[in-house]
Amino acid sequence: MSIGKVVWLCFLFLLKLATAGPSYNVLEYQAVGDGITDDTAALLKAWNSACADKRMATLLIPSGKNFLISRATSFNGPCKSAISVQIDGNIMAPNKIWTKKAVNFISFNNINNLFVHGQGIIDGQGAIWWNCFRKYISIHFSYVHSCQLLNFENCNNLDVRYIKLRNGPRRHLAFHSCTNITVDQITVTAPGNSPNTDGINISDSQHIEITGSTFATGDDCIAISSGTSDVNITKITCGPGHGISIGSLGKGGVAAAVEKVHVFDCNIFNTMTGVRIKTWQGGSGFVRDVTFERINVTQVGAPIDINQFYTDAPQGHAVAISNVKFIGIHGISAKKTAIKIDCSGTVPCTGLFFDDINLARFGGNRTVLASTKNAHGTTKGKIIPPIKLLGNYEGQ
Ligand SMILES: *[C@@H]1O[C@H](CO)[C@@H](O)[C@H](O)[C@H]1NC(C)=O
Ligand SMILES: *[C@@H]1O[C@H](CO)[C@@H](O)[C@H](O)[C@H]1NC(C)=O
Ligand SMILES: *[C@@H]1O[C@H](CO)[C@@H](O)[C@H](O)[C@H]1NC(C)=O
Ligand SMILES: *[C@@H]1O[C@H](CO)[C@@H](O)[C@H](O)[C@H]1NC(C)=O
Ligand SMILES: *[C@@H]1O[C@H](CO)[C@@H](O)[C@H](O)[C@H]1NC(C)=O
Repeated sequence: MSIGKVVWLCFLFLLKLATAGPSYNVLEYQAVGDGITDDTAALLKAWNSACADKRMATLLIPSGKNFLISRATSFNGPCKSAISVQIDGNIMAPNKIWTKKAVNFISFNNINNLFVHGQGIIDGQGAIWWNCFRKYISIHFSYVHSCQLLNFENCNNLDVRYIKLRNGPRRHLAFHSCTNITVDQITVTAPGNSPNTDGINISDSQHIEITGSTFATGDDCIAISSGTSDVNITKITCGPGHGISIGSLGKGGVAAAVEKVHVFDCNIFNTMTGVRIKTWQGGSGFVRDVTFERINVTQVGAPIDINQFYTDAPQGHAVAISNVKFIGIHGISAKKTAIKIDCSGTVPCTGLFFDDINLARFGGNRTVLASTKNAHGTTKGKIIPPIKLLGNYEGQ
């Protein structure tokens, strides 16, 4: 833990003590909380008062009630002081297709020193969206592919704790252009077959710690997208879903940049892949300095997966992948090929490092395989299954 983080946690502690002071209860702003009445306007009014208070206010969403928000709702800053949002009651989306645009159900924008916590559930009532998506995917892709549950944009010094996100129409939690984020002990759940319901997506953000949280969704538990650096992910339970992913990056020929990602002490089960990096051909930029360490997998399709061919149209350049370490990856693969490292011929993967890998299949012939292509790097210690690497790349 960095000194900055310690200072920040002390600050939060003081903030919590201070928040015994001004509290803006949404019920005092005519919110009803019966799950039927539209409480959008009341929540916004209470927010505006809290945000305008110079004394570190708390927006209180009290327990034992269901607050219906009927439309895309933004809680905007900047605020006059640090601000706390205590979600103890539940917040619900309408049980219908309520937008045809790409929007966020709830978004916090342009806020410094924001603390979002509480025992409440934010429920996206996603089933109707997933059914619509399944039915219309071929003709109306963008029509249904459209709503993120909880979004943070341009927020610095942000702490998200304890809350539960459920059944999002699409991604559950997104951070975009944020700095200094702590996510601790949150729970995200949606059925394993719900489309595009990623747990967290992080983009253009720095200094992020995600810890002690549980993700069970239909897509990536955590997706790290371009512009992101210094991410520590630890003590995560992931599954079902698609695992913990960096990417996809470089789609449409764009430049990507992801660095300093450390994923450690995590459990992954019943997922399509375990830890993976996926990039599109034709992109540029880099993914570098990534470590996946002490990861237990159970019935995971491909526990280790690097794919630089996230399209079948072959093109010259690619997002460069370098200095990626896999240390202490243990458990059960659901497929025979447990390790897939598929790198580009023109921009091969370099500086890969494997140490203490032990993967097998369940029952019968337990032997699994590793397949590698254009993969440069080294191994140390016991590696099961054996991995063929090309040695260090010239010029490294
Ligand atoms: C992030 O935290 C560090 C350390 O506490 C602090 O120095 C820095 O100003 C913060 N960044 C922003 C954008 O608030
Ligand atoms: C994450 O969000 C960014 C910014 O909105 C987007 O470009 C990217 O495609 C998203 N990634 C995933 C995996 O959803
Ligand atoms: C992530 O861990 C590294 C190494 O322990 C540390 O230097 C860095 O400050 C941590 N970053 C965050 C955001 O917690
Ligand atoms: C992974 O499994 C080992 C052996 O059972 C155990 O000691 C370790 O605590 C597990 N790691 C996590 C993150 O649960
Ligand atoms: C188990 O599977 C491996 C990999 O396909 C194969 O090489 C080996 O011969 C199999 N062993 C037995 C006993 O069938």
